[in-house]
Amino acid sequence: MSAAALDIRPLAGACGGEVFGVDATKPLSNDVSAALKAAWLENQVIVLRDQDLSPAGLVTLARNFGAPNIYPFVKGFDEQPEVIRIVKEPSDDKTFGERWHSDTTYLPNPPIATMLYGVEIPEYGGDTAFASAQLAYERLSPALQEMLSDLKGVNNASVPGGRASGRLKFSNMAITDQDENKLEATHPLIRTHPDTGKKSIYVNGIHTKRVDGWTEAESKPLLDYLFDHITRPEHTCRVQWTKGAVTLWDNRAVQHTAINDYQGLRREAWRVTIEGEPPK
Ligand code: SIN
Repeated sequence: MSAAALDIRPLAGACGGEVFGVDATKPLSNDVSAALKAAWLENQVIVLRDQDLSPAGLVTLARNFGAPNIYPFVKGFDEQPEVIRIVKEPSDDKTFGERWHSDTTYLPNPPIATMLYGVEIPEYGGDTAFASAQLAYERLSPALQEMLSDLKGVNNASVPGGRASGRLKFSNMAITDQDENKLEATHPLIRTHPDTGKKSIYVNGIHTKRVDGWTEAESKPLLDYLFDHITRPEHTCRVQWTKGAVTLWDNRAVQHTAINDYQGLRREAWRVTIEGEPPK
């Protein structure tokens, strides 16, 4: 069964599709599972609304796309360690994941996909925005595509200002004491999607610190250009959350950012990442 068998409405011209008529609270048939996977690969981001899932149900749904894995910096539910809670309490200033990035690119096998489930949604704001690094690649000049093709990026888990000003600033998230400086991986700046064959720019403003073999100062102008180019408004789509919505994105094709525009309100989402392969 292909994605065409599903009712999918685009979220924007660049990427993203909302899928209607799938009940993810029950095990999916092989046909529906294959169609959803095809829809995810085609649209890079898919959204299903009005699902009522427990952490175990979220893991069951995630297994249609691969093997759920463990995120190093937040402890998951006791019974489902693959599922973490992302919480912004009304008193928190920051929100988790609020700058553009692809997930955990500092690991040797970064996750192919991330699934996020809306548990408590503020009455306004708190959207997640996505940018197609695939479309951004297609819109580079052939000369720059060629120049980037042999370069690699060094990705590190440290966040600007260190942990105290970074991941620890969430009052109700189970942050672990994992040493972030130790997690580092070097990946191609341009990666080829193993399923679609499409290329994308694989650098992001949180984790990619420099071009391999270049100093940070030498790398900065090129990386800044690529970060800005990927996240141009015409390369993006935006998911407006509702309680029970599930969004699945392809970390090989898109970047995302959590929009921190609901100060004083509470938002809770549950997240699962799906084990990846070394980017090539
Ligand atoms: C994340 O970066 O994984 C969180 C995104 C969000 O909460 O919108």
